[in-house]
Amino acid sequence: MTETERIGAAIPLLLAWHRVNRRPLPWRGRPTPYAVWVSEIMLQQTRIEAAIPYYLRFMERLPDVQALAEVSEEELLKLWEGLGYYSRARNLQKAARAIVEQYGGALPASAQALRKLPGIGDYTAGAIASLAFGQPEPAVDGNVLRVILRLTARRDDALEPGTRAWVTELLRGLYPTGEDAALLTEGLMELGETVCLPREGVRCEACPLAALCLAREQGEQAALPVRSQPKPRRVEERTVLLLRRGDRWAVRRRAEKGLLAGMWEFPNVEGALSAEEVTALLTEWGGEPLSVEPWGEARHLFTHVEWRMRGFLILCPREIPALTWRTAAELASDHAIPSAFRMWMEKLDA
Ligand code: ADE
Repeated sequence: MTETERIGAAIPLLLAWHRVNRRPLPWRGRPTPYAVWVSEIMLQQTRIEAAIPYYLRFMERLPDVQALAEVSEEELLKLWEGLGYYSRARNLQKAARAIVEQYGGALPASAQALRKLPGIGDYTAGAIASLAFGQPEPAVDGNVLRVILRLTARRDDALEPGTRAWVTELLRGLYPTGEDAALLTEGLMELGETVCLPREGVRCEACPLAALCLAREQGEQAALPVRSQPKPRRVEERTVLLLRRGDRWAVRRRAEKGLLAGMWEFPNVEGALSAEEVTALLTEWGGEPLSVEPWGEARHLFTHVEWRMRGFLILCPREIPALTWRTAAELASDHAIPSAFRMWMEKLDA
């Protein structure tokens, strides 16, 4: 059996399985193209259960392209707070503005036109085109890659762009149209998320494609797909300054470019500073602290960097003017503070 024949035989089995096993998720069941788009962007780096409350809140506050195009950046980031990868939110808004200008506020239906919008790559374009418009366009994410590489027992490296391109082309030639296109895109993801799980988590006993799966036949299902080792993250030591004056805390806004662009943060500097070094730094900033004491440690993993943070609680006799001073309640309600600082946000209330 060729690879094309194998996948061709799997598709009707998968569609039948998915019709029965489809989980009711908030963006399913005749969603608008806008709803598909927002959900796919959220789901790119975020687990389904984590994304659901964000999705519901986002759609309630920004129910259509127009509302997204017009919302303030501050409010947009606040809606995204905690999801991470904030450029996703900024690109959503950039694309919303382009959709209003170029298409009168309605998403275009072709994958080719969708791909030209900010933040929409091959995956998202294929997902919107198939899920919202019934176009015969595959959307190949990590789950779909795993399903297809196992089905065909290909040992191609899942992290190589060429592998994704191969899977996309193979699927494109076999894709149905209309409701089945949506069902296939969704069903492939669903199988990868609930049955064809990574490594030893794989549940072949529950798989509708088990009889067709070459990896299973070869006993290789847990070993596939093959992945090259990603580069290890660069470790960065940082010192976080929790500056308190009365019931207010000091925050500042990050630069418009780079990691966590435009988000609010507690002042922090590179390096693992001692209490003496912190005191000296504050004197430089124009504040003479009343006290400086260690206040816990935390780690945060970004895609390419790991922050190892140590915090200091610092009592200040007056507010340092270059920083912004807010109560814990104000920070929680009005400022987009990234998850990297969550541990300290929690301590403020304690
Ligand atoms: N992962 C990415 N997109 C998804 C979707 N529409 N449904 C379920 N899981 C997904």
